[in-house]
Amino acid sequence: MFADRVLSGMRPTGSLHLGHYHGVLKNWVQMQHEYECLFFVADWHALTTHYDTPRIIEQNVWDMVVDWLAAGVDPANATLFIQSRVPEHAELHLLLSMITPLGWLERVPTYKDQQEKLSEKDLSTYGFLGYPLLQSADILIYRASQVPVGEDQVPHIEFTREIARRFNHIYGREPGFEEKAKAAVKKLGGKKAKLYNELRIRFQEQGDEEALESAKSLLDEQQSLNYGDRERLFGYLEGGGKMILSEPQAMLTAASKMPGLDGQKMSKSYDNTITLREDEASVTKKIRTMPTDPARIRRTDSGNPDKCPVWQLHLVYSSEQAKQWVMQGCKSAAIGCIECKQPVIDAVLAAQHPMRERAQQYLDDPALVRNIIADGCEKARKLASETMRDVREAMGLSYT
Ligand code: TRP
Ligand code: SF4
Repeated sequence: MFADRVLSGMRPTGSLHLGHYHGVLKNWVQMQHEYECLFFVADWHALTTHYDTPRIIEQNVWDMVVDWLAAGVDPANATLFIQSRVPEHAELHLLLSMITPLGWLERVPTYKDQQEKLSEKDLSTYGFLGYPLLQSADILIYRASQVPVGEDQVPHIEFTREIARRFNHIYGREPGFEEKAKAAVKKLGGKKAKLYNELRIRFQEQGDEEALESAKSLLDEQQSLNYGDRERLFGYLEGGGKMILSEPQAMLTAASKMPGLDGQKMSKSYDNTITLREDEASVTKKIRTMPTDPARIRRTDSGNPDKCPVWQLHLVYSSEQAKQWVMQGCKSAAIGCIECKQPVIDAVLAAQHPMRERAQQYLDDPALVRNIIADGCEKARKLASETMRDVREAMGLSYT
């Protein structure tokens, strides 16, 4: 219903590695040219699980922003900010908590899963239970239409949609909604008003989804409608009240296939990562010492790339031609493993080179990063306070 606005957040719990790059950041970099994008550091979310090690969060916040910038996220094309610097998120979280049934939170699959997975931590806290609701507040406060996330986060987006619906259902029925909606229909002008009414009836009486879609696009085209009327007309169409909060869509990012140094998925917990800006000597050493097909004990033994983690890296980084060279060379023992690894080392270093270069200016002058974030927080707060005005009003909190 609105121009697409994309929002996503990342918890600052450790250095970013090439898995984050191929799984998430590459996507962000591309999306920033296609949509209005907001990306933020979810430091409060990190506290829900790391409340007893706050220093970890502190250290990682700025490094993570530098990593984003290094990867090519561009502050001229995307708004970058820190969650805790937009306290409106906390206010919305609190207000939404009033209408959030406990059972909904307890049923979010990540709740039990994470408690079990992180069993060394005491996660039977109020904050941790509220994790998905805080995430809903993050999303709803910007009226984001698209939320790029991995598969594991889909239940959180679904939960957010339910919260938005419940909120609109409870608070969208402003006094005199019908009359106000009818007055708004009139403002569309004779022909369009008639069309709107016809489409609305077709949808409400016959469940005609096409009519609903046409009516929505009719509304999308009306530039002159004010925000309140626009919301009423969308709400009136589907029979509910005014839509104060809009339901987001999950934008599934394909799971990163980025393999780690041992062939498992790259992940900090497997200790098999290459960090985004890792220094050249260390990258070289890590790849040189990677395990290979165990059948290749001697240089003259032939191997099978399908059984070798190095091959997985070739799949990410190498050209068709290079891959053929590996396939044939490995199977016929024409190449050795060190030789085979060299193009991977070269490719990883080449991909990291511009990242290291972009990062350098920010490392030399940390004030640049602080300023980017200060700007982003200011922009974010402006957007957030617009939504909060409507939410407070709907909840009876805008006394004069
Ligand atoms: N829960 C998300 C994760 O762990 C991080 C996050 C917090 C987020 N708030 C968000 C992602 C809002 C998207 C939108 O990855
Ligand atoms: Fe792996 Fe390459 Fe050695 Fe074959 S030649 S085992 S693909 S490193």
